Amino acid sequence: MASLVSEGAAALLSKGAFHHHHQHQYSRKMKTPSVSQRFRASSTSPSTDTPTSNSSTAILQASADKVRLGASDVEVTKVGIGAWSWGDTFYWNNGSWNDRNIEDARAAFNASVDVGINFFDTAEVYGSQIMGVGGESERLLGRFVKERNRLDSKGIAIATKFAALPWRLGRGSLICALKESLKRLDLSSVDLYQLHWPGLWGNEGYIDGLADAVEQGLVKAVGVSNYNEQRLRSAYAQLKKRGIPLASNQVNYSLIYRLPEKNGVKKACDELGVTLIAYSPIGQGVLSGKYTPKNPPSGPRGRIYNKEYLTKATPLLQALREIAQQHGKTPLQVSLNWLMAQENVVPIPGAKTAAQAKEFAGALGWTLTSSEVDELRRLASKLDPITGFPAESF
Ligand SMILES: NC(=O)c1ccc[n+]([C@@H]2O[C@H](COP(=O)([O-])OP(=O)(O)OC[C@H]3O[C@@H](n4cnc5c(N)ncnc54)[C@H](OP(=O)(O)O)[C@@H]3O)[C@@H](O)[C@H]2O)c1
Repeated sequence: MASLVSEGAAALLSKGAFHHHHQHQYSRKMKTPSVSQRFRASSTSPSTDTPTSNSSTAILQASADKVRLGASDVEVTKVGIGAWSWGDTFYWNNGSWNDRNIEDARAAFNASVDVGINFFDTAEVYGSQIMGVGGESERLLGRFVKERNRLDSKGIAIATKFAALPWRLGRGSLICALKESLKRLDLSSVDLYQLHWPGLWGNEGYIDGLADAVEQGLVKAVGVSNYNEQRLRSAYAQLKKRGIPLASNQVNYSLIYRLPEKNGVKKACDELGVTLIAYSPIGQGVLSGKYTPKNPPSGPRGRIYNKEYLTKATPLLQALREIAQQHGKTPLQVSLNWLMAQENVVPIPGAKTAAQAKEFAGALGWTLTSSEVDELRRLASKLDPITGFPAESF
């Protein structure tokens, strides 16, 4: 998918461009030994804390409820916030980033925490600016957390990601990159550290690096991203040998991108008790219904979600509107609710503004009926799939 191509381009341009930042001051109590002990004691069956695909348990009873990431000790809100667009000029923000954007991002962060959504996802390659200066998303997030922590402490959970760049080899490179991320975030540890995409030359070194990071107290839980079923199973097994659970696999998943349902990834996540973190869960804004054939998105998104695509998506968007009306909700909230209805899924929609973040909270605390869930899938199936990250398929 073009968005990921852009993430990759950002990564390449960012080589060596990350700056050292302040000393980390914000620290959290580590629970590492208990994660390992609990995981060692458990069998390969899914965590009892993690809903499985067949479970009839309603997981959206109370919006304040949190879910555990896999068999780790990390608990997050059922919807998180993606921070890719913060500081980004490659894919988002029409190529420019200014003080007004920073204020909007800060307001998005604060509004999220105010409405009780306090799980934030960033990456070392996010917020890449012209001339390859990256890391701005982590810097902004770190700054917002710190500002907020002067006022209160709301159990904010931070996830970031390691860029498996071709010149980064082995476990040591992961720890080095993680320490740079922690400096930018101004934290002494993060809640979740993920391999952003599979390595070109293999993943064993990186997986060992993830386990090292847990043992060194630099992260509370570890995950992968854009991993297909076979890579997911290998990562799970390798970590298990070190007594560490694979907490999550972050993949593209939404009503308009349902590859995880077809390529075995969702099923394997459910079976292993690995949380599926759904990225681009509102189809990069499309599922809000605000883009129409006459008003497609600007920038790189306009090439994917073009006039033709949006014309074909009209019946789905219309159904979303009707179902939303029946529930007193918005199409975007229905889209997020649909994802959560698949269970074991934590969507992380991107928020650029406070209003966008507030709208996400309305996806919690209610459930679509199963016939609405089915009807939406049926209409979505009529749309040609958009192209995804190649690593998911080979
Ligand atoms: N692991 C990976 O490889 C990977 C890849 C992609 C994303 N991600 C993660 O997933 C997160 C979310 O994915 P994403 O940003 O690609 O897509 P998304 O969450 O589906 O869409 C986010 C975009 O939708 C629009 N939007 C947000 N709230 C809205 C609202 N209330 N009403 C109308 N439009 C709204 C905004 O763009 P406009 O206002 O400009 O329309 C926003 O930037 C990212 O931030 C990142 O953390 C990870």
